[in-house]
Amino acid sequence: TKTPVNVTVTGAAGNIGYALLFRIASGAMLGPDQPVRIKMLEITPALKAAEGTAMELNDCAFPLLAGIDISDDPNVAFDGCNFGLLVGAMPRKKGMERADLISANGGIFGPQGKAINDHAADDVRVLVVGNPANTNAVIAAASAPDVPAERFNAMMRLDHNRAISQLAEKTGAKVADIKKMVVWGNHSADQYPDISFCEVEGKAASGLVDEAWLDEYFVPTVAKRGAAIIEARGASSAASAAGAAIDHMHSWALGTPEGDWTTAAVPSRGEYGVPEGLSYGFPVTSDGKEWKIVEGLELSDKTKKQIEFNAKKAQEEIDTVKSLGIMK
Ligand code: NAI
Repeated sequence: TKTPVNVTVTGAAGNIGYALLFRIASGAMLGPDQPVRIKMLEITPALKAAEGTAMELNDCAFPLLAGIDISDDPNVAFDGCNFGLLVGAMPRKKGMERADLISANGGIFGPQGKAINDHAADDVRVLVVGNPANTNAVIAAASAPDVPAERFNAMMRLDHNRAISQLAEKTGAKVADIKKMVVWGNHSADQYPDISFCEVEGKAASGLVDEAWLDEYFVPTVAKRGAAIIEARGASSAASAAGAAIDHMHSWALGTPEGDWTTAAVPSRGEYGVPEGLSYGFPVTSDGKEWKIVEGLELSDKTKKQIEFNAKKAQEEIDTVKSLGIMK
């Protein structure tokens, strides 16, 4: 049997944490033959709740669960970390400006990036889920100069899955028969879900749906789905966010299937005109070790315009981070 890997989950006592930990321990994330040791990071007042979740994890008697550690110290929680899921973040409170939100989260993701730099395993891979996820990923990576920036991702998989679900519903196809979806950009209302390259049961999706449906229904429905879930449930999406985090890590660690790709926010090196250094949703494939951005796609004028627009917004956020002195 394989030796256990260390999986660190921050914000472990939160809503997403509760939906995420059990699936990690069950083998859904890294496969049915990979034992895991779970390391939970929480703020001090939430340690007791984290302990309660740990009790339940033990009560599931998962054969793959090799152990659980709980800490409020990032240096402990990231010690030996192979996979880090950075979920805990400072939520936006009433009257808070965007700059305040960015600054509060800089105070979380900067130190966590440094702890990863100093204590994680050499092969560490990190997924930032806590919002603003793309900007937080850039901040964490900047605080970890000894870890390749490519190892810090932000989650766009929930947006990707939402887009597949909407297209499946519209066309009557099974989700498994939809390939090559991409959601360009940031996990924000400025994202651009794009079906230009999508295949539905092997046929071009662009021939199955019309422009009006795409512009007036599909794009806004996917981009504003988070708000619609809050409206309906009275609580934010947690199980679907956890499911997307599982999918992201699964694709990264075990590879993407031949003939398809997925969406992940990875550092731009200028692909498709996206400014270098942004953590940006691109179409990507994985060989089980690293992501590769799918290059050479022929973009429509509309896609180009949307990328230009949302990249500008994402860059403004990074400029705010720099002007606040959180990052050089
Ligand atoms: P939640 O409020 O239920 O849980 C957050 C947990 O993080 C709390 O238990 C809190 O104590 C903990 N926490 C706060 N600061 C921490 C720190 N410095 N270190 C460790 N833990 C800390 O929130 P929920 O619903 O679990 O969401 C978590 C984050 O995920 C939010 O920022 C949310 O906006 C984001 N999110 C991102 C999505 C995406 O697609 N990227 C989708 C859905 C949510």
